[in-house]
Amino acid sequence: MHPPVSGPVNASSAESRLLAIESSCDETAAAVIDLTGTLLANIVSSQVEIHAPYGGVVPELAARRHVETIDGVVRRALDTASCTWQDIRAIATTQGPGLAGALLVGLNYGKACAYALQVPLLLVNHLHGHMASAWMGAPDFPKDAVVLVVSGGHTHLYRVAGPTRHRLLGRTLDDAAGEAFDKAAKLLELGYPGGPMIDRLAKQGRPTTIRFPRSLGRRDSLDFSFSGLKTALLYYLRDHPQWNTPELIADLAASYQEAIVDVLVTKALRAVRQEGVSALAVVGGVSANSRLRARLAAEASTHGIRLSMPPMALCTDNAAMIAAAGLEAYRNGTFGTWDAESAADLTMPDASLPSTTRATVSLSPVR
Ligand code: KG4
Ligand code: ZN
Repeated sequence: MHPPVSGPVNASSAESRLLAIESSCDETAAAVIDLTGTLLANIVSSQVEIHAPYGGVVPELAARRHVETIDGVVRRALDTASCTWQDIRAIATTQGPGLAGALLVGLNYGKACAYALQVPLLLVNHLHGHMASAWMGAPDFPKDAVVLVVSGGHTHLYRVAGPTRHRLLGRTLDDAAGEAFDKAAKLLELGYPGGPMIDRLAKQGRPTTIRFPRSLGRRDSLDFSFSGLKTALLYYLRDHPQWNTPELIADLAASYQEAIVDVLVTKALRAVRQEGVSALAVVGGVSANSRLRARLAAEASTHGIRLSMPPMALCTDNAAMIAAAGLEAYRNGTFGTWDAESAADLTMPDASLPSTTRATVSLSPVR
């Protein structure tokens, strides 16, 4: 059976609402926007405390916690937006990529609600969500831009022509930048999640104390590699058994962070230059990093680049970004079917932006 509406719809009503759900990893999140794109509620329930003792996300525990919290999170989002189920015209939910069990919870909850309400189901690629966050705090940010998606699972550079039209320029060949932060925090016994801990500690340290390697590749390479950096830290700690002092830990955090930030900034600017655009967006959990934000802001101002970094609440996983991407799908009439399944390894088809021209072609439907 198919959803009740098909084809492009009139999405201008400010009274009608779109509900979005995100459960791809360890945040249970729900958001409500009106159909003009105004954010009315953005609720995130973090699972940090249940995963922290294990030093990383335990997929089975994540899925179970999503089941327990999703209903309450959605109801809080509806309350915060002062609306009822009757106001909901469409439901967007993350289809993938992410943890299989975790994704299943949000997708099936969203599907059940959409079916009960007989409204369209919108299937959102989590990466499209992160990309959409680039325009949420800055609706006038140019559509023609380079976007760096930098999170716990991704370090991907895209040339875009709007939030859902893109061409992959480069990606990590091993660890994602967020993973590099998390693994370092584990080695330094700082706990989980690692990125925010290292960010905080680095503020008290000196970034030049230890010269960690920067993997920059060939002059024109837009790929990343962070596994050598992690290994360098491992060897440093092995060769300096007295590393566990507050001063040295702060210096290690600052030096390690600087190596990651150097690479991200260098490659992002390289991509902007190579693509001949003047706008750069950096999105995903690692875009919350204070040193990365400061360095990018300085470089953007020096080189006259228009920079977009989401407000902090939209950097790490949230449903507001899923709502924004879902609204695009709603406007385009790209609806999911009731037999849609979640996909832990969902990819983004890369056929939308030819490499030889800046003309844009629509992405194939998110499925
Ligand atoms: O986007 P996100 O919430 O989830 C994924 O889609 O992966 O990103 C989570 C990642 C984690 O690796 C976390 O350590 C990192 O983002 N992160 C940070 C900061 N805040 C979160 N990394 C560096 N500095 C931060 N302030
Ligand atoms: Zn994410």
